[in-house]
Amino acid sequence: MTSKVLLPNRIYQMDALVGLRKLESNSVDLIVTDPPYNIASKNRSTMKKGKIISTMKAWGAWDSFHSFDYDLLIMSVISECYRVLKPGGALYMFTAREQNGYFVRKAVERGFVYRNQLVMVKKNPLPSFSKSNWRSAYEACMYLTKGKPSTFNFVSQAECKNVFWYSNTRHITKHPTEKPLALIELLVAVSSNEGDLVVDPFMGSGTTAVAAQSLGRRFLGFDLEKEYIEMARERLKGVKFAERTREAA
Ligand SMILES: C[S@@+](CC[C@H](N)C(=O)[O-])C[C@H]1O[C@@H](n2cnc3c(N)ncnc32)[C@H](O)[C@@H]1O
Repeated sequence: MTSKVLLPNRIYQMDALVGLRKLESNSVDLIVTDPPYNIASKNRSTMKKGKIISTMKAWGAWDSFHSFDYDLLIMSVISECYRVLKPGGALYMFTAREQNGYFVRKAVERGFVYRNQLVMVKKNPLPSFSKSNWRSAYEACMYLTKGKPSTFNFVSQAECKNVFWYSNTRHITKHPTEKPLALIELLVAVSSNEGDLVVDPFMGSGTTAVAAQSLGRRFLGFDLEKEYIEMARERLKGVKFAERTREAA
């Protein structure tokens, strides 16, 4: 049993840590998650419907923390992920570039095995307005396992590279930080099997749930914002068991 109180194939309006703590130890096959990056306060810019807007306007308050609170949240989530994963289960976690190495090191201290870092390269990054720094064109995702991985369904030499190119203007929902479905599906296809339970404690627009449902996995997730949960539930209505989505080159 996964949880005495939570049912699979549901997204709950709940804090990530509160939700994870309701799950049984050693009950989850895969966690794919994209928590807040804590960069909204740094007043960066982002794109929405082809227009450039500030992150604060796009993301509201959920991406802004004092650094101590942020580290505590992410570390507590990593510890809970370790507890709930089955031996051999995998955690994919996106973080801001500057945080990735730090959290990998902390996750290894908690018992995780560091397997790789995946890089998502944007085909169309924002221009550099000040022309005084390098354009930011990638995001990083850590790949960790609880011991030796129990599942790694190698798809092909071409697809199982740790660099993934994507178009960051191809959004399905209005969520400001929606991840590319093709990439999330690839992670789910490689690191889980049909019927497995895939958890995302920061579900946002439901990309992980959509990937899991279309590939015949069960899912479970949390988000604090009612608006995003409704977005995800709406998105899930049309999702049938299907082939993976592939991003056109
Ligand atoms: C980076 S977004 C995830 C986007 C998602 N990967 C997608 O493709 O749509 C992070 C999400 O975490 C949610 N969130 C922030 N703090 C949270 C918390 N403590 N517990 C649960 N969800 C939280 C936000 O509302 C936001 O939707």
